[in-house]
Amino acid sequence: MAEATTLPDPAHARAGIFFDPASAPVHPGTTAHPGLRHLLGLEGLSAHAIHDLLDAARAWRARWTRSRAPVTTLAGVEVCNAFFEDSTRTRLSFELAQRRLGATPLGFGVAGSSCSKGESLLDTLRTIAAMGVDVFVIRHASSGAAALAARELGVPVVNAGDGAHEHPTQGLLDLLTLADAWGGSFAGRRVAILGDIAHSRVARSAIHGLAALGARVTVAGPATLVPRDAGALGCDVAPTVEDALRGADAAIALRLQTERMDRGLLPSIGDYVRAWRLDAARARLLAPHAVVLHPGPMNRDVEIASDVADGERSVVLRQVANGVAVRAAVLAWCADRVAA
Ligand code: NCD
Repeated sequence: MAEATTLPDPAHARAGIFFDPASAPVHPGTTAHPGLRHLLGLEGLSAHAIHDLLDAARAWRARWTRSRAPVTTLAGVEVCNAFFEDSTRTRLSFELAQRRLGATPLGFGVAGSSCSKGESLLDTLRTIAAMGVDVFVIRHASSGAAALAARELGVPVVNAGDGAHEHPTQGLLDLLTLADAWGGSFAGRRVAILGDIAHSRVARSAIHGLAALGARVTVAGPATLVPRDAGALGCDVAPTVEDALRGADAAIALRLQTERMDRGLLPSIGDYVRAWRLDAARARLLAPHAVVLHPGPMNRDVEIASDVADGERSVVLRQVANGVAVRAAVLAWCADRVAA
């Protein structure tokens, strides 16, 4: 068994210091338990693997438009949804995907669990694993939490968001939504990602996924909210929101992740809104066919104007719908089951 069992300090995530690749394995299939399939991030995932998952998600989506008749793809598979952080759409869509595939979902939340009595993350997860759970879906405030679980538990782990590191199923559903808008082709496309990039696991997964599929990314936000390694991640950094948006094929607006911020990163919300909000005038700078995404939850009229969020370019609810199909594809892949 690997020796390190401590998590990166959550304060690191708050300070915008990201996942330490040396602290845990990141790539699917390279853990201490060979043969297990984890989805811990989109970093390192090949274009081929991403396309396979998107194709599987499209197949689930097509099936469910025809019929909701129950399937047995994940019959007998018990999935623990271990959410140590709040969630609405991610948690519910994982659970819905599990039910539609015939799995048995096991819910877990920090409130009402032994975590509130001081039990460590690993002790809590090992306790649940000892009951014989087959797959873990884990959300946690610390970057690296899902990788740690993958190394220690001996069952497949899906990362449902770890600190400011990655949120791979959100990345995949963003890719599926963009593929829908762009006729399936990513080559030569450009996406503007706006706002609090530094604390966003959504941004990092999108950046890795888009790079793998051949699209370009431009990020724009206040200097304190753009990570120092943005260039190293392969994206361009634009000085203004207008520069990022001009001619882009899509924009992703991000919430200010205040729960992960140290004080003093923003002079005032008013200044932020004036300089960085995606409003209708700015959205007109996008290419004519471009779409607007937001992972939710939205803070209307802070990072995105209400009329843009509800406007004709917005694909926010399509993202949510695609999330169920993407999570079904990921769960079947991790459990090594072929669609029924
Ligand atoms: C995101 C998350 O939790 O990282 N939400 C989500 O999963 N759809 C983004 C956010 O919280 O702002």
